[in-house]
Amino acid sequence: MAGDQIDRRTFIARLGGTAAASTLGATALADELEDLQLEASLQKAEKAKPKPRPRAAVRRGSGGVFDKLRVPELEPLPAEPKLIDFFRHRFAGYGLHGLRSAQHALDSRQDEIHVMAALVHDIVQSLVRSDHGYWGADLLAPYVDERIAWGIRYHQALRFFPDDSVGYEYPELYVRMFGADFEPEPYVHAAYAEARKHRWYMHARMITVNDTYGFDDTINPSIDEFTDIIGRNFRQPKEGLGSDNSPSAHMWRTLINPDRPL
Ligand SMILES: [Fe+2]
Ligand SMILES: [Fe+2]
Repeated sequence: MAGDQIDRRTFIARLGGTAAASTLGATALADELEDLQLEASLQKAEKAKPKPRPRAAVRRGSGGVFDKLRVPELEPLPAEPKLIDFFRHRFAGYGLHGLRSAQHALDSRQDEIHVMAALVHDIVQSLVRSDHGYWGADLLAPYVDERIAWGIRYHQALRFFPDDSVGYEYPELYVRMFGADFEPEPYVHAAYAEARKHRWYMHARMITVNDTYGFDDTINPSIDEFTDIIGRNFRQPKEGLGSDNSPSAHMWRTLINPDRPL
């Protein structure tokens, strides 16, 4: 997996040095690390020489489409865009990360609801990266089973907590990068405690299990293989995403055209 090639020095340098890194909370650090893993795996898939890539002059919490180094060209979308069009033209690395996670869920014969959740669990990072679990739940809630949206909301916190029952360990990479005495913020602990006793706990937990396969550069599935699963698990509006007046239609419009002010 892509984590093998990442060392602490590269990671700290990417964050702007030790002083800058010390100002980031646990959630931001874990997100940055996932981003670095994803980049490393994408470069490997493209057979590019692994090298740290500078980020454009955008805040770290802004989504991938606002970073011209990540998405240099905004390809046109159809007039009535479907989820699959966003996978093809907007989600960039976060789409592939979801595809790899979903492929693992499929290969390990998980229920289709977990496959769908894995597929879309991080797509919101194209739009906004800070607190992406919460934003992701809001983006998807109008279109998916409410257990999927719930799971996406809580997967952000569950990353930091192991669960032996499904073989999810506290990431060794976190120990290596953040140190052994690293503690997530109080709101992350509170979200975990809340999720742990909820009847839908496993819908968030399985996202974290499948997430770890999302950096596996040996699998590169195509979105075309998931057409039927999306058809059964995503309520595609006939007007097209962004024109459907749903509570998150504005988010899809921003993804369609992130260059449009106001
Ligand atoms: Fe995530
Ligand atoms: Fe993820």
